[in-house]
Amino acid sequence: MSQNVLRRRRLQISNPAEMSTPRKQKFCEKGICLFVILVAVVAGIVAVCVVTLTDKNLRQRVPSPPRLEWWKTTIIYQIYPRSFQDSNGDGTGDLKGVTKRLDYLQELGVGTLWLSPFYMSPMRDFGYDVQNYTQVDPLFGTMDDFDVLMKEAKKRGLRVLVDFVPNHTSNESSWFNNSRHSIGKYRDYYIWDDGVNCSTCPDTNFKMPPNDWKSAFRGSAWTYDDNRKQFYYHAYLDSQPDLNASNPDVRQELKNVLRFWLEKGVDGFRGDAIRKLFEFEDVHRNENGVLNLTRNLPGVYPVMREWKHFLDKYSHGKGQEKILIAESYGITNEMRDAYYEVDSIPFNFAFVQKLNPSCKARCIKQIIETSLDGLKEEWWPNFVLGSHDVSRIASRMGDSFVNVLNILLLTVPGTPTTYYGEEIGMKDTFYTYSESRDPAGLNYKEDYLKYSRDPGRSPMQWDSSTNAGFSNGTPWLHVNLNYPVLNVEEQLSKETSTLNIYKSLAKLRQLPSFTNKNIIFSTVNDDIISYVRSESGHPKYLVVLNVGSRDSVVDCRGPPLGVSSAQVVLAAGSSLLGISSYRMGDIADLQAIRLKYAEGVIFKI
Ligand code: NOJ
Repeated sequence: MSQNVLRRRRLQISNPAEMSTPRKQKFCEKGICLFVILVAVVAGIVAVCVVTLTDKNLRQRVPSPPRLEWWKTTIIYQIYPRSFQDSNGDGTGDLKGVTKRLDYLQELGVGTLWLSPFYMSPMRDFGYDVQNYTQVDPLFGTMDDFDVLMKEAKKRGLRVLVDFVPNHTSNESSWFNNSRHSIGKYRDYYIWDDGVNCSTCPDTNFKMPPNDWKSAFRGSAWTYDDNRKQFYYHAYLDSQPDLNASNPDVRQELKNVLRFWLEKGVDGFRGDAIRKLFEFEDVHRNENGVLNLTRNLPGVYPVMREWKHFLDKYSHGKGQEKILIAESYGITNEMRDAYYEVDSIPFNFAFVQKLNPSCKARCIKQIIETSLDGLKEEWWPNFVLGSHDVSRIASRMGDSFVNVLNILLLTVPGTPTTYYGEEIGMKDTFYTYSESRDPAGLNYKEDYLKYSRDPGRSPMQWDSSTNAGFSNGTPWLHVNLNYPVLNVEEQLSKETSTLNIYKSLAKLRQLPSFTNKNIIFSTVNDDIISYVRSESGHPKYLVVLNVGSRDSVVDCRGPPLGVSSAQVVLAAGSSLLGISSYRMGDIADLQAIRLKYAEGVIFKI
């Protein structure tokens, strides 16, 4: 810059006459300037008061929905740690791997992680055979890894639930070892029986199990122990002996387990196999083919209540509630109610058990109605699409339907649970018999495909690199062959992907209209189910889903809405073919909502 230019600038600054326009100068000269400022300030204050008052009035007129406990507005995301993310190249997912993916989970919009077991275990049932409840299995890392996971999760506002397996231990646990040697109090920690003599055997002193009860994983539920010369009962594998929940010492031990994890800061528990906690005392009573004879016995409820009270001691005020969610397959509404009296929410597996390709709109409506039917004011609903025990929803219902089913799960009343990978539409993976790992399948030999749970447990598909970014070793189960095209990275980059739709849903469902129990069905025909979610003083939302097998059209102008147009706030095409014919922000005619096969749209009214 030349000296000349610099000087000119200095001159300009030192000459106020040159700074302001002549008009401005005149204005201020007359003192009007001050007056205008004064008026402006007074007007501003008045305006703020008016707005505040109006706003206050509005707020008084519109009752705000009650502040709900955290677990009522969250999404639970189930992580099967073996299959989520391997951090050390041994082919098995681990706790450090979960920590590495916390940013992803936070971005996804799920608020709560449920971790399937990561405790010390011989892994016959992949962790559901616990050898030590308060130690981390080295396969999954260390207790320090868990502490870091907890700290990092909390930092991101994520809650953590852990699995609580009170029905059985591993046969390699010290409790069982002591029990089979009849040592002290451990003698009665499990269900033991002498069995009966075999009247038809060459040696009539030969011992047979006391009854015909079957293990969930095939064969008798009783195994003879040579040390103790007695049979022990196992609802699952012979390596998963059932604890004797009638024994107060056992119950105390289990409470100690709860205490341990509560003191680690967990937000609650998913209770495994709760309905099998008790067996008929008369072990000579046969099932005679009536499965589940010894399930959901009345003893379950007081024990659950005891645990719930125990958890309540750790619930230090609003936002700090500790929850207990019972795994409760195949229960009637009556049993459900009994569970509601003693836990936070019993898992509702109605979608898992009843959704199938022939269950279309009316059938889905009925599932929702039955699930909500008779819930007391204080009971909170919940829905689940899948878990580590069943075939993936994309395979059960067809991969076109993932979007509509995610919309369904995230817009019906209550807390939804998403099984890892459902947010991208992961499918079952085929494993030959020799590749299979699940004992529930392997025990059935040539019929293994019917029972194996491996297909739904394949590793998470993160990207298109080797092993889908899950592991740089050899995965314990190989990844699905579709991973180069179906993975998180790919879907993050596509606006209309299943993953991005899931993320939008996760945001949408936080609105007051979705965080209550109100649902009113609109038009339901053979293919399309539609319903309205609302909260007084807030916009209504109309959810319209084509769950049929063809394109279809509905008129949703009638009750409960009574309006003829509305704005599209979310539109999802078939998860296989993509693109919906509706676009965000469009004002659509509700007289003829045309939805292609497997398309779903949410309108705001
Ligand atoms: C239910 C669990 O979800 C399943 O994976 C396990 O095999 C059984 N309980 C036994 O713990």
